[in-house]
Amino acid sequence: MSATSSRKLFVTTALPYANGPFHIGHIMEYIQADIWVRFMRLRGHEVHFVGADDAHGAPIMIAAEKAGVTPQAFVANIAAGRKQYLDGFHIAFDNWHSTDGEENHQLSKFIYQQLRDKAGLITTKTIEQFFDPVKNMFLPDRYIKGECPKCGAKDQYGDSCEVCSAVYAPTELKNPYSTLTGATPVMKSSEHFFFRLSDAKCVEFLRHWALDPQRLQPEVANKAREWLEGDAGLGDWDISRDAPYFGIEIPDAPGKYFYVWLDAPIGYLASLKNYFQKTGRDYDAFMADPATEQYHFIGKDITYFHTLFWPATLHFAGLKVPDNIFVHGFITVSGEKMSKSRGTGISPLRYLDVGMNPEWLRYYIAAKLSAKVEDVDFNPEDFVARVNSDLIGKYINIASRAAGFITKKFDGKVSMQWATEQDTFLSSLRHAGGEIAALYEAREYGKALRAVMDQADAVNVYVDANKPWELAKDPANNARLQEVCSRLLEAFRVLSIYLKPVLPALATQVEALLNIAPLTWDDVSRPLPDQHVVNAYSHLMTRVESKMLDDLFDAPETPAAAPAATDIEAIDAEIKIDDFAKVDLRIAKIVECAHVEGSDKLLRLTLDVGEGRMRNVFSGIKSAYQPEQLVGKLTVLVANLAPRKMKFGVSEGMVLAASAQDEKADPGIYILEPWPGAKPGMRIR
Ligand code: MSP
Ligand code: ZN
Repeated sequence: MSATSSRKLFVTTALPYANGPFHIGHIMEYIQADIWVRFMRLRGHEVHFVGADDAHGAPIMIAAEKAGVTPQAFVANIAAGRKQYLDGFHIAFDNWHSTDGEENHQLSKFIYQQLRDKAGLITTKTIEQFFDPVKNMFLPDRYIKGECPKCGAKDQYGDSCEVCSAVYAPTELKNPYSTLTGATPVMKSSEHFFFRLSDAKCVEFLRHWALDPQRLQPEVANKAREWLEGDAGLGDWDISRDAPYFGIEIPDAPGKYFYVWLDAPIGYLASLKNYFQKTGRDYDAFMADPATEQYHFIGKDITYFHTLFWPATLHFAGLKVPDNIFVHGFITVSGEKMSKSRGTGISPLRYLDVGMNPEWLRYYIAAKLSAKVEDVDFNPEDFVARVNSDLIGKYINIASRAAGFITKKFDGKVSMQWATEQDTFLSSLRHAGGEIAALYEAREYGKALRAVMDQADAVNVYVDANKPWELAKDPANNARLQEVCSRLLEAFRVLSIYLKPVLPALATQVEALLNIAPLTWDDVSRPLPDQHVVNAYSHLMTRVESKMLDDLFDAPETPAAAPAATDIEAIDAEIKIDDFAKVDLRIAKIVECAHVEGSDKLLRLTLDVGEGRMRNVFSGIKSAYQPEQLVGKLTVLVANLAPRKMKFGVSEGMVLAASAQDEKADPGIYILEPWPGAKPGMRIR
C-alpha cells in the first residue's frame, strides 16, 4: 500500500496560444493533468507542474495590431485572465509563465546554438514564398486565399479546398489574395533556417525514442511509425520566420525569428526555470539529475510536434528528453465538435458563473477519460446522471447517513475497536487501493472511478443491511449504532482518499468533518483512532439540477439589459410578403475595402456576390470601421437597388447596417454579418 521510494517529476500541459481565453478543451486537458499530478503527490512523489502562455507567432502579432496594442500588452491582457479559470477548477499549477519571458529567450537561443554548433544540424536554404506587398510581410499560408486549382471554387485556403477536398500548395491557387489586405501576393525569396531532421542520426534517435514499446500510447506509436517509416521520411524543419514577427530573434541572424513552434515547447523548461528561480531551487541540478522524469500532457492535434520535433530538439541540444508524452482526444459537446470561432460548447466561466460546482465537472471528465486518444463527449443528461447517482447517491450518501448519529448520540466519538487487520469490511476496501492507484497512474481514470464506485456500492449494501436509522430508534442498540456509523465514516474516509485527486476541495471539507490532517495515500491503512472526535456534519455537496444545464447552454454570455420600449424607432407601416420579396438581399464578401479620397464618410467596398464579377459599393461607414477590419468578412447587400452615380464613381447596391435613431445616444454603425456557413450570392428570404 505505501508508496515506493519517492520519484521526482516534471509535468506540463500544452501551452495555450495567448490569443483568447481558455475554452472547455483547455480545461479538460488541465483537469486530466491536474488529477495525475495530485495523485502522484498523494503517493508521496515530488512533482513540479507548470504551464505558460504560448505568446509568439503571426496570428497573435496580427490580433494585437487589430486591437491597436503591442503584442506584449496583448498577451499580458490574456495572461491576466487565466487565474480565475485555474483557481475556479482547482487546477494547481505551481507556476504560470510566458514563452516571451526572459528565460525562454535565453534557453531558446542556447538550444539553437547547441543544435547549430555542437550537433551541426542547422542549415540554411533560400525559399520562395508569398509576400504581401501592401503589408510588407511574408504571408503564412493561413492568410492566403484564392481559387481552387482543381475545381475553381473561390476563397479557398492555401492548403486544401473545402469544396472538392483537393490538397495543394498555396502557390498553386488561382488569383491568390492576401486575407490581410486583399492585395495580390508576389513571390519573394528569403533565406530560412532549417533543422536537418532528415539527417540519419535524427531518424535513428527518433526511432529509438518514439518506437520504444515502453513509451508512447499504442495509437500514438503507430502514428510515429508512419511518420518515421513512411515513404516521405522526415523532412528538414523550417524553424525561421522573417520580420515582422512576434518571437525570439535568431542569434547571428538579424531580422530572422524562431518559428513559434521551436520556442513554444522550450517554454516548458522556461516556466520550470522561472519557478525554480522564484522558489530558490536549483534548476540545472534538477534537470541534470537522471532520476528526474519529464511528462507532457497534450491534445492529439499537436502530437507531431511533441513526439518528433521536441525530443529531437532536446536530445541534440544535449538536454534531457521527455520520458513520455500523454496524448488525449478532444472534448465534444453533445456529440458535436466544438469550434472556437462559433463559440459553441460550454464556456468554462459561464459554468462557474451559473453556480455549478467545479468538482462535478472534474468528476464527470475523469469518469469519461481513459489512457486512449479518444474524444470525450460532454452530454448534459449523462452529466446529471453521473454526478447525482455516483457522487451524491453513492459516495456522499455514506457520510450523510452516519455522521449525524455520531455527533448527536456519541458526542462526535467514533468507536474503532473493530478495526483490526482481520476485519473483512476494512480489508476489502483497502485492498482495492492497489488497483485504483495503478489505474490512476496509467491515466485510466474512468476505470479508477468505477473501481471506487464498486467499493461505494459495497458500503451502501452494508448501510441497507444495517439501517442505522432503524438502530437509532432503540437506545438498547447504541453500541451497535456507534460501530455501524463508525464503520461508515471509516469507509467514507478511505473512499475520500481514493477520490482526492479528482475532488481536492471536497477532500478538504472531508478532512475538516473528520477532524484529521490532510489525507495522503498511505492513510488508507491508518484508520481513525478509537474515540477520535469528528466534527458536526454539514452539507458536503449538492445535487446537480438539470435546470442549471439549461442555463449553461441557453442564456447569453452577458445578461442583456431589459428592453426599454421607448428607446427604439417606431415600427413602420405593415407590408405584405410580396413587398419584402421585391428587395433582393444577398450575402456579399468584402474582398477589398479602401478609404475614399475626399470623403470623410465613405468607404469603398469591393464586393463578391458570387456573380463572377466584383461590385463597387460606397458605404457611409467610415466613422465606424477601418478598411482592414472589413476585408474578408461577409455582409448583406441590397443587390437589386438601381445603381447610383456618385461624385466618386458608381455605387452598385447598398450594404445593410444598423444604427440608433438618436445618434447622440449611440453614434455606432453596425454592419450585418451572417452566421458562419453563409456563402456569397446566397439570397436572404
Ligand atoms: N500553443 C499550442 C501548443 C504549444 S505546446 C508547446 C496550441 N495551443 S492551443 O491553445 O491551440 O491548444 C492547447 C491545448 O488544448 C492542446 O493540447 C490542444 O490539443 C488542446 N485542445 C484544443 N482544443 C481541444 C478540445 N476541443 N478538447 C481537448 N483538448 C483540446 O496548440
Ligand atoms: Zn476545389
